[in-house]
Amino acid sequence: RLLIIDFGSQVTQLIARRLRELNVFCEIHPYQNVTEALLKEIAPKAIIFSGGPDSVMREGSPRPPKAAYDLGVPILGICYGQQVMMHDLGGRVEAGEHATAEFGRAYVTPTETRPEFLNGWFMDGTGKEQVWMSHGDHVAEIAPGFEVFGTSPGAPFAITADLERNFYAVQFHPEVHHTPNGATIYENFVRLAGFTGDWTMGAYREEMIAKIREQVGDNHVICGLSGGVDSSVTAILLHEAIGEQLTCVFVDHGLLRLNEAEQVVKMFRDNYNIKLIHADESDLFLGELEGVSDPETKRKIIGKLFIDVFQKYANEIKDAKFLAQGTLYPDVIESVSFSGGPSVTIKSHHNVGGLPEKMGLKLVEPLRALFKDEVRALGHELGLPASFIGRHPFPGPGLAIRCPGEITREKLAILQKADAVYIDQIRKHGLYDEIWQAFAAILPMRTVGVMGDGRTYDFALALRAVTSVDGMTADYYPFSHDFLGETSTRIINEVKGINRVFYDCTSKPPGTIELE
Ligand code: XMP
Repeated sequence: RLLIIDFGSQVTQLIARRLRELNVFCEIHPYQNVTEALLKEIAPKAIIFSGGPDSVMREGSPRPPKAAYDLGVPILGICYGQQVMMHDLGGRVEAGEHATAEFGRAYVTPTETRPEFLNGWFMDGTGKEQVWMSHGDHVAEIAPGFEVFGTSPGAPFAITADLERNFYAVQFHPEVHHTPNGATIYENFVRLAGFTGDWTMGAYREEMIAKIREQVGDNHVICGLSGGVDSSVTAILLHEAIGEQLTCVFVDHGLLRLNEAEQVVKMFRDNYNIKLIHADESDLFLGELEGVSDPETKRKIIGKLFIDVFQKYANEIKDAKFLAQGTLYPDVIESVSFSGGPSVTIKSHHNVGGLPEKMGLKLVEPLRALFKDEVRALGHELGLPASFIGRHPFPGPGLAIRCPGEITREKLAILQKADAVYIDQIRKHGLYDEIWQAFAAILPMRTVGVMGDGRTYDFALALRAVTSVDGMTADYYPFSHDFLGETSTRIINEVKGINRVFYDCTSKPPGTIELE
């Protein structure tokens, strides 16, 4: 396996992701834990030093164990990792001045002495290569045995290597998307280290199962199940690891899609034989929401009740010591993001952030290193049906935020039916996978219509469908007029209570995806 020594970069996990894409098994360890003993135990076939925020000139700044250099395995140093390597091996690093600090896009050109080296190893041939830099300090003198292969305006030693010892060190970040050919560096590095690329999601599954067992021991774990992909994969993985030591709590707030609660409960109980508490608290939630039409108040009520209810059921599970959560890597990056500054709250997001401390539970987060598409791949590996894995995202507050104005049982029932017809139409036309998210919303207004010979005075429905990569920005989906016409007709014919259908053609921004 390959060892990544983490010096605290924001993007260390991206290195792991690039390696997983190459089917290489890697482990990330924070530098504090990487001792000589650990090196012996892991016996890595190659090592990567990540970037990091510190300066090697600062006393007490992070270092790898010296023994790392004597293992005779290839090492790749990135950014801070490069500086550490140069510093340790006899080079010199200088503090950044304004003129040499580089943040963002930069271009690396091959050095004239051996321009051929970079061709194929990284660059596509001639000229310059776009890379992503983020450094204050820079290497001022390379260590003995190293050669320079590429330079950039702010980093004269952008790409350096000691070909004899197979030590490579770059100032930029090859793991980020803004270094378009960065993956090639990793590919060449792992090849020369002798990796064959035979590691798969199946292996990840086994590895996580072992880790969960080690972390949890004989203790009991509670897992909140929402019916979404992340919590489902978490639950199934935990069930494989610890079986009866797992209890899932599914909080049913009565704001789910048509038949959704039954489907989730059935799937987990029947197909997976997972211990599951179906907390049907729809009366409680809908009761508290009665008469409430302000969007933020709705969100806050639901968020608070959710925590109360979850806690109530969880307290009944004796001896639980852990809470499992389907936290993904993007959640982890966002929560420690550089920006950190005060940003405006557009919507109070639904989460159970403070819950573990409140309940004195430790966290188990087996998906913490994964991105959404990797979670889907793992779900596939665990045997989750494809239709389930590919489901559109569904917000925690559920249909409450698709029912602007007051929420009533009547409106919810109409919305559930209309939404089901709409999604059925999308599936029938083969459009489901092209769309990031599609749903219906019931509007707080009635309009006049005529059906048969009679007058109707019923609710209006808004249809929404968007394309997006991450939900942060979105564009409305350009359905054909035929599709829209057919769908509108079907909904009005099949769902009593709706006599008019609108299509929402607002992008995000300025709109948000949900209506509230
Ligand atoms: P907006 O409406 O903010 O939605 O453009 C972006 C994405 O987030 C989902 N969403 C939520 N997900 N809890 C969630 O788990 C929430 O409170 C919540 N609000 C919005 C929304 O469905 C879309 O995918």
